[in-house]
Amino acid sequence: MKRSLPELQESPQPLVMVTAYDYPGGQHAEAAGVDLILVGDSLGNVVLGYDSTAPVTLADMIHHARAVRRGAPHTFMVVDLPFGTYHTGVQDAMRNAVRVIQETGADAIKMEGASPEILAVVQTLTRNGIPVMGHVGLMPQTATAQGGLKVQGKDDASARATLEGALALAAAGAFALVLEVIPARLAKLISEKLTIPTIGIGAGVGCGGQVLVTHDLLGVYEGEEKKIAKRYAEVGQISREAIQKYAAEVRAREFPARDNSFVMKDEVLDKLY
Ligand code: KIV
Repeated sequence: MKRSLPELQESPQPLVMVTAYDYPGGQHAEAAGVDLILVGDSLGNVVLGYDSTAPVTLADMIHHARAVRRGAPHTFMVVDLPFGTYHTGVQDAMRNAVRVIQETGADAIKMEGASPEILAVVQTLTRNGIPVMGHVGLMPQTATAQGGLKVQGKDDASARATLEGALALAAAGAFALVLEVIPARLAKLISEKLTIPTIGIGAGVGCGGQVLVTHDLLGVYEGEEKKIAKRYAEVGQISREAIQKYAAEVRAREFPARDNSFVMKDEVLDKLY
């Protein structure tokens, strides 16, 4: 059963959110019983092979979110508005958010930032019935302007700006907030000051919930584990080994075996010779 917004907001347990980008990803997340699925624009990095989220388009997000929705019809689904789709004015943002809701079946959209322009967008969308999840701290879409992919909120000015941005997003109507890569004590303070849930990634245990990029938690990419994630499986290694076994069996003519093949009667075959 899909959880309603008030149920999510009043959850006594930490909320569990994972990203998904396709039909099997949606199916697995729903079968695992997560509270929310995020069709994140991390899609750009982990699925499309870009080195940032900036090239991801609205068409990309809609295409992938539709597939996720087919796999997860009963889970609250949040879709990221990608870079540039809510930065050119409130009307453009509204039009793009409506497209995402109508064309993907999303329950809510997410956007990064807490500038006066973004707050105006959040206010307009929420007043018009589109639930918005905010996102402060590290914001990958504009990471270059933040000095790179690094911890935010460590010094006075940055900590205050993060706290004030979070409070302003809640006041503008956001129903929940992602806190990305900020010190755990700042995330706890923000979470205590807000009446809406915070969902942390690299923000410590004091948030109202946690989100991970599924490819990180599944270990789709081998190599060093990211500090902000935990690898619960080694799917990349399992995939590589399976493909290597298949390749070896094809080369040895062991696959396809008799069980994988179809038979025909001798007399039918004989007529062909
Ligand atoms: O795009 C994404 O996956 C995100 C999460 C990291 C919160 O925004």
